[in-house]
Amino acid sequence: MSCANVNTLPCAYCGSLAKMSKVDTAPATGRLGVLLPGLGAVSTTLIAGVLALRKELAQPIGSLTQLGTLRLGKRTDHREVPIRDFVPLAKPDRLVFGGWDIFPDNVYAAARKAGVLERELLDQLRPELEAIAPMQAVFEKRFVRNLDGLHVKPERGHRACIEALCADIRKFRKVHKLERAVMVWCGSTEIYQAPKGDMFESLEAFEKALDSDHPAIAPSVLYAYAAISEGVPYANGAPNLSVDFPAMYALAREAGVPIAGKDFKTGQTLMKTILAPGLKARLLGIDGWFSTNILGNRDGEVLDDPESFKTKEVSKLGVLEQMLEPEKFPELYGDLYHKVRINYYPPRGDNKEGWDNIDISGWLGYPMQIKVDFLCRDSILAAPIVLDLALFLDLAQRANMSGIQEWLSFYFKSPMTKPGLPPMHDLFAQKVKLENTLRHLMGETLITHLGLDYYEDE
Ligand SMILES: NC(=O)c1ccc[n+]([C@@H]2O[C@H](COP(=O)([O-])OP(=O)(O)OC[C@H]3O[C@@H](n4cnc5c(N)ncnc54)[C@H](O)[C@@H]3O)[C@@H](O)[C@H]2O)c1
Repeated sequence: MSCANVNTLPCAYCGSLAKMSKVDTAPATGRLGVLLPGLGAVSTTLIAGVLALRKELAQPIGSLTQLGTLRLGKRTDHREVPIRDFVPLAKPDRLVFGGWDIFPDNVYAAARKAGVLERELLDQLRPELEAIAPMQAVFEKRFVRNLDGLHVKPERGHRACIEALCADIRKFRKVHKLERAVMVWCGSTEIYQAPKGDMFESLEAFEKALDSDHPAIAPSVLYAYAAISEGVPYANGAPNLSVDFPAMYALAREAGVPIAGKDFKTGQTLMKTILAPGLKARLLGIDGWFSTNILGNRDGEVLDDPESFKTKEVSKLGVLEQMLEPEKFPELYGDLYHKVRINYYPPRGDNKEGWDNIDISGWLGYPMQIKVDFLCRDSILAAPIVLDLALFLDLAQRANMSGIQEWLSFYFKSPMTKPGLPPMHDLFAQKVKLENTLRHLMGETLITHLGLDYYEDE
């Protein structure tokens, strides 16, 4: 027997929500531009990967939009649909890539330097990869102190830089005959900044700060501002501020543009948000969590600067505390010692090794230990995230969703939320939220997993 709930609240008995009407969403016609500030390891791995998919040289492993399925209705209905068929997403063969970098290497050369993908694969894609050359970057060394690059715009002053980036976006759209575009920041991690002060709080004050070339405004903020002004959805893959402060939330809402961030959830933090919710679910105590990494790519080199590392550290540290809620469970997590280290070690290149030592305690306080040694490939984990974010942000915009897209928290270490709203870090809770958002968009019943109705005839 199916539930006849017609309210907007969950049915008190089975938990199902009334079927809602489908959200009016424009179709994914034409080509979608994917603009990437920073054509380094992650971007080139994404671009080469999507081109390889088109030639059927590889599978889109790790991508929810390409391989994920979604249950619709009750478990007994047996309706499991591929996400890419259920929601109107742009197809990977309709994507056109472009970007900016402080180095002039085209995507083939940059991918060879990044050393993530094998030469044999890159050579099969060489003409297409060589055809993508970076536009000149907006860059200030003070924000990324371990890099020097000459492929930088001559413009000086915030407004002139924004205008130059807007002109790049318009030209890119025109040349490639694009219907829409999205931007995902894959540039280096900028130095740590707390979003303190009026200029971050209100759009009016922020506009004035732009006019006066305020020195606290980093290049990634200018890219974000340019994207939003051009009606281009923006996601931030790094932990720096970029679009994560109230003035930018207001700008995005006013412009009707979706934004998301920040810091791709890959590697060690992905593991943390898988393991910690499980330990908490069983009410096991955690006394200490020591995480250390060695990595040798350009990202590692940038993070070797303590100010850039600080930005990453804040992003990585917040995860455990917010998930475990020590204030609610002082006997389990009140004394948790959490330490994160990143060590630049060139021989490893992009093949990071992340160690975790977790000191846990069980019944009557008896201690136990968990050791994780994750030999991961950072960019291999990040590339499908960028693809999914590009496609979902484009979907959000066609569905008239603007401002912070919290349903995309699934992809981020430090999910953006509106001020005062605590973020959700549990990977599985984030996935339920994402899936229910897709059901909501398509007017399908939301799933609460209560499931009492399966037993009502007994
Ligand atoms: N790979 C992962 O798993 C992962 C996870 C989370 C976050 N991130 C973040 O994603 C970003 C990209 O990672 P990556 O491994 O590709 O790093 P990378 O160093 O290989 O690439 C970053 C590129 O950005 C360029 N750049 C720096 N400042 C720029 C600017 N102002 N404009 C344009 N280009 C600029 C650099 O020259 C470099 O080529 C980093 O901030 C990293 O911290 C990566």
